Formats: sequence, C-alpha cells, structure tokens
Amino acid sequence: MNQEKRILCIGAGYVGGPTMAVIATRCPQYRVTVVDVDETKITAWNSDRLPIYEPGLDDLVRSARGRNLFFSTDIRRAVKENDIIFVSVNTPTKNFGAGAGMASDLQYLEQVARMILEHAESPKIVIEKSTLPVKTAQALERILGCNGHGVRFDVLSNPEFLAEGTAIRDLENPDRILIGSRETDRGIKAREALAEIYANWVPRTRIVTSNIWSSELSKLVANFFLAQRISTINAVSAVCEKTEADVVEVAKIVGMDSRIGSKFLNASIGFGGSCFKKDILNLVYLCQHFGLPEVADYVESVVKMNEYQKERFFLTMLTAMFNTLAGKRVCLFGFAFKADTADTRESPAIFVVRKLLEEKAEVIISDPKALENARKDLSDVNGRIQYVEDPYEAAAGCHAIALLTEWDLYRELDYRKIFSTMSKPAFIFDGRNVLDHKSCFDIGFNVFPVGKPSLTHFA
Ligand code: UDX
Ligand code: ADP
Repeated sequence: MNQEKRILCIGAGYVGGPTMAVIATRCPQYRVTVVDVDETKITAWNSDRLPIYEPGLDDLVRSARGRNLFFSTDIRRAVKENDIIFVSVNTPTKNFGAGAGMASDLQYLEQVARMILEHAESPKIVIEKSTLPVKTAQALERILGCNGHGVRFDVLSNPEFLAEGTAIRDLENPDRILIGSRETDRGIKAREALAEIYANWVPRTRIVTSNIWSSELSKLVANFFLAQRISTINAVSAVCEKTEADVVEVAKIVGMDSRIGSKFLNASIGFGGSCFKKDILNLVYLCQHFGLPEVADYVESVVKMNEYQKERFFLTMLTAMFNTLAGKRVCLFGFAFKADTADTRESPAIFVVRKLLEEKAEVIISDPKALENARKDLSDVNGRIQYVEDPYEAAAGCHAIALLTEWDLYRELDYRKIFSTMSKPAFIFDGRNVLDHKSCFDIGFNVFPVGKPSLTHFA
C-alpha cells in the first residue's frame, strides 16, 4: 500500500499503545510504528495477549497490526524512517537528588532526544505526548539543536487526556486535541501537519492550538482540577460522616449547578493512577521553583487530602472492627486503581493492604484483571497474602470485605450467599459507594460506606 505519512511513537505503554492503535485504525493511509526498549512488551504487543488491558483495544490492534500498525524494538531504524515522532516514554516522579519525591524524572525523555539526534538523517517533527513539566520543550529543542549535520527539528506539545478504562472511547471522541507550538512560521507549519492527522476523525473545532508553554501547563492544570474535585468531595465526605448528611446526595445537589457540573464528584477511598499525584507534585515543584510557595501549598493540599482520605478509610475499618485486626481475615474486592483496567499504579489498595498487614491481618485480594500486577506491587510481602480471583471464594471465612475498585461485577454478586460463608459479625467497607447498603444491612452485614451514615447491628 502506498502510505501517505509515516508516524512513529517511541514508548509502547498505556498512552503510546492505545493512541497509536486509534491513529492506525482511523487513518489506514498512514503507516504507524510503535517502538520500545522493553522487548517483552513489544513481544506482547505482537501477540494475542497485549501488555495492557483496555476495553476495545484488542479488536483495534487485531484489525490494524501487520497492515499499517507495527510494533518493534528497532528504534534506530524507526527514527531514520519516520519524520513524525511522538515521544511517549515514562516520566515518573524522581526518587533521587534534587526535587526527589516531586519533580519529574526526565532521564528517559532525554535519552530519547539524544537517540533521535544521533540517528536522524532528515527533518523531524518531535511531539511531546508524555506529560511534562512546563519548559521541557525548550530543553528538547536545545538538545536537538546541537546537531552538526544540519537536520531540522520542530518540537510540539500534544498532551494526551485519555483516562484508563475508557481510553479508546476518549481517543476516538476526544473533548479536545491540544497542540502547542512555537508561534513561528515553522512552528505553525509543524502544528498544522499534526492537526491534519487528527482531522481524519476529530472535528476541527475540537483541535485547539496554543503556545507551547500553555499546552504543557494545561495538561498539569487539567489533572490538578480533576483531582481537586475528588479531594474536595472527599473532604466533604468526612464532614458527612460526622453530621449524618449523605455525600452522594450532597454531590448530586451541588453538581446540578451548571457552573459546577456533576462529573468527578464521586467520594471514594481516594484517587490513584499514574497521573494525578505525579502531575500535581510536578506542579508543586514548579511553583516552588518559580518562588510561589503559597501556590505550591494550595496545590499540594489536594494530594495531602487524598493521603488523609486513604488513612481515614483504613482507620474506619480498624475502629469498626473493635480496634484489632490481628489474625482477622480481610478480603479486598478490587485492587486496580479504577474499574476496567489492570493498572495498579498508585492504587489506594496498595496502601490499605500494607496497613492491614501492619495490623497483622490476613489479606485476601480479589480482582478480575489486576492480580498479576498486585503480586508485583506486593512482592516484598507476598507470603502473607492470598490472591483469589473468584470473589465468593475470596470472601469465604473472612471477617470483612473492603470494596476498593468499582468493577461492575461487585454490584451484581449474591451478598446473601457471601454473608452465609463469612465470620460473624461480618463487615463491608464500601470504598466506592457502589453497593446497595440497606440491602447488605438487611442481610446482616455491618455496612460502612464513604460519606454516609454507617449501618450496624450493634446496640
Ligand atoms: C486521569 C485523567 O482523567 C486523564 O484526563 C489524564 O489523561 C490521566 O489522568 P486516569 O488516572 O486514567 O485519568 O483515570 P480517572 O478516571 O481520572 O481516575 C483517576 C482516579 O480518580 C481513580 O482512582 C478514580 O477511581 C478516582 N476518581 C475519579 C474518584 O475517586 N472519584 C471520581 O469522581 C472520579
Ligand atoms: P505511560 O502511562 O505514560 O504510557 P508507561 O510506563 O506505560 O507510561 O510507558 C512508557 C514506555 O516508555 C515504557 O514501555 C518504557 O519501556 C518506554 N521507554 C522508556 N524509555 C525509553 C527509551 N529510551 N526508548 C524507548 N522506549 C522507552
């Protein structure tokens, strides 16, 4: 097939893989290559068992792979052959040196830039897809500018707003596509080349362009706003528990104000995932760096409230179960950081398990997709945990269930049957407010939702 454009993505992770699968299926006239240093991952992308679980992804990959979608480890060759290069490598929080625990670790990004520089033989558009601190594009431009062989590079910022679990839907029907560029003739030409790709399936009115720094900053700010809403409603959930107000009712009422809106107001055990905490701390670090300590403190409070909410959830469990968990069996329904993903990065479940183990509880973890990742996250304490996929089997003989991920399947279980197999008094701690609390109570459970009055059978 005569392919119009050749597109490369460096980094075959949660963002790069699904994004390229959608571009390849929406633009069969382009040839899309995804490369990664991780051979196992590339082998998995080329197999029937993809390295990530995302609803709808298998079908897309199956339809495009080998036609105009290719996964490879030959990064050098790919750089030579492609002139539009998305960079989608991991930028975790730095765990060493200056800014440890807050700043982004940009070493992988810089390695990629140097590699592009070394192997490029023709002009390239280099697109930041990973979420990055503001001004990273400048660093990239400076590195790429150091070439002696006259190759021209244009750097664009094109942050990805997909959420895991709904990635394919988000990519196919995005609220907006953001493209930041230098406002020079060259920068504008490069951003038009990228816009042309998205225009194959995204209406032009949703393709927003901006200066490159606004683009980099907007991604951090969008995640800050979303996480801030969750921390706000979680703070309110604590007030509800003291006052017998119901956080679900409060969220509904508040969210009906069209200025506020109803989304991202579900009180929970706290947010997880690879982005929110990392991006907020990144913003905190930037504010500190630019001499804005008041702003930094304000932004950081969102993460602090999230830590408090996780702690509060665990303390509710401990207090409700007579202040001792030693030897008690606690079953977790869900380990992924949200439903419809196997991803467990920053999952609140990790915190809960470690706290339970500190109290010498026995922990049984159930999850339809995330048990493999759970085993890795808890490899240092594995001997003390059981992993059981079937929720009925997992809960049998337990003193308590903690529902931590809002998988649909947990709404549909036969809780009467589960209750009959558990140690009494039996407890349910619903960290997602997804169960029918009254009916669980009527069955005999002592029920502890988030931000609602608890229902117990104790006098
Ligand atoms: C987020 C952003 O939504 C996305 O735009 C960005 O590109 C990456 O970060 P993601 O982390 O994949 O996406 O999932 P999201 O749906 O935002 O959920 C994040 C966490 O917040 C999850 O743990 C989720 O359970 C929690 N959450 C979400 C709540 O506790 N309450 C809510 O109302 C919404
Ligand atoms: P995200 O959630 O942002 O997509 P992931 O960790 O899932 O992050 O994916 C990032 C990918 O980038 C990983 O598969 C990692 O192996 C890859 N990667 C990191 N450094 C490089 C590099 N120098 N060259 C190619 N791929 C890289």
